[in-house]
Amino acid sequence: MTLTDSPALREATGPRLGLAHLLRLRSHPDTHTAWLRERYGEVYTLRVFGVDMHVAHGPDAFEQVFVNRDKVFASGPAWSHFIGPFFHRGLMLLDAEEHLHHRRIMQHAFGQDELRRYHRLMLPHLRRHLAAWEGVENPRLQQMFKALTLDLALEVFVGVDLDDAQRRAVNRDFVDAVRAGTAVVRRPLPGGVGPWSRGLAARARLERFFREALPAKRREGGEDLFARLCAATDDHGNEFSDDDVVDHMIFLLMAAHDTTTTTLTSMAYQLARHPRWQDRCREESLAAPEPDVVGTADLPSLDLVMKESLRLCAPVPSIPRIATRETSIGGYRIPAGAFVTTSPYTNQHDAAIWPDPQRFDPERFAPHRREDKAHRLAFQSFGAGVHKCIGMHFAGMQVRAVLHELLTRYTWSVPPDYRLPIDLTALPVATDGLPVRLVVRTGRST
Ligand code: HEM
Repeated sequence: MTLTDSPALREATGPRLGLAHLLRLRSHPDTHTAWLRERYGEVYTLRVFGVDMHVAHGPDAFEQVFVNRDKVFASGPAWSHFIGPFFHRGLMLLDAEEHLHHRRIMQHAFGQDELRRYHRLMLPHLRRHLAAWEGVENPRLQQMFKALTLDLALEVFVGVDLDDAQRRAVNRDFVDAVRAGTAVVRRPLPGGVGPWSRGLAARARLERFFREALPAKRREGGEDLFARLCAATDDHGNEFSDDDVVDHMIFLLMAAHDTTTTTLTSMAYQLARHPRWQDRCREESLAAPEPDVVGTADLPSLDLVMKESLRLCAPVPSIPRIATRETSIGGYRIPAGAFVTTSPYTNQHDAAIWPDPQRFDPERFAPHRREDKAHRLAFQSFGAGVHKCIGMHFAGMQVRAVLHELLTRYTWSVPPDYRLPIDLTALPVATDGLPVRLVVRTGRST
């Protein structure tokens, strides 16, 4: 008997008006998800960006799909549907043996020693950049973080000497490639207009840029991620080809950039809304003028705030897969070839796991509470299984470094009734850019 014949399995159903539901999910993700679950059950279908997606809820479904013990769910074809033309052959778009082979090599660019080197490279640029925020009128932190992380990426990831015009051009191409991945019209339009065509042109220029810079990078080496990828080998001495390095570089820039910007933005927002936490984090930063941002010991409150901000606003809100053969989730049939997703964003707002889930309460992660232990995969922001974020510690290092500098240099606030408006169409974006009152700290010693 095949799964299809099993009378015990239910068919997932869902609303036909995909777009209307998507718009509601975008503005009211929690209440609309609760409504969909109540109406259609724990697995339902929703039309998203041209496909019928099977949406499954809860940490058990998350574990089944992403830990993927039965090797049913594929990442490459699912992500390729959304971002393939711009980020093909990035690590997340590979599967099975090939993925493991590439991941083992790439791992060598993400060790503790490498992170310390990246931090050393980053620090002078970070300090210069943040010093210039003193003169910014009407500061909007999300946009400032975005510009900052792009600039730091050129130093830490790319490490190629560029004049201002070249920096702007690489940044623009990179932003165009990312935007195209989440474009609503998902094909080139006549005359090369529209985000899709701009994204394809940007991808071609980025490939050219990295390919031209590659021979010197291989020859001369360096401390940046580009140089480390050129030099990385697995335990058997296998290394990346030139094509691999180019594809991985373009993907890594994308994987690192918006996710880190979102994390910084939601942490800065929560610290503005909760000045007692801002003070508490600042005290720890002032007590540790040169903290070890690769470890976690020196800034424990900031680490709690980071986890809680990532719980409340998962930077990758939904993660897709494709079922390579027929299977089932939670009593629902999943046909071969079906798109499946489960959402860290909504799972991390589930009251069954997280008491009072909408409340900002960093101490829920503290040793005396550890609410994240309610399930092996209660905390999902970095994914799980073989594709779990390889840049997780890099992200922690960068976020700690930026917020530590920000806390020692400035205080910032928002009006008491301010709430950050988030658009969840693709990745979470603050639609107003997070306007704040940014004040240089008096008595600052640097
Ligand atoms: C707070 C920031 C970040 C968050 C929340 C985040 C989240 C994620 C998630 C959820 C995945 C799994 C996707 C899947 O299973 O399909 C992932 C994969 C990945 N991330 Fe991150 N990420 C962050 C920062 C970074 C950074 C800074 C880098 C690089 C320096 C990076 C590189 C990658 C790569 C290469 C993968 C693919 C791993 C694989 O397929 O084996 N990420 N990330």
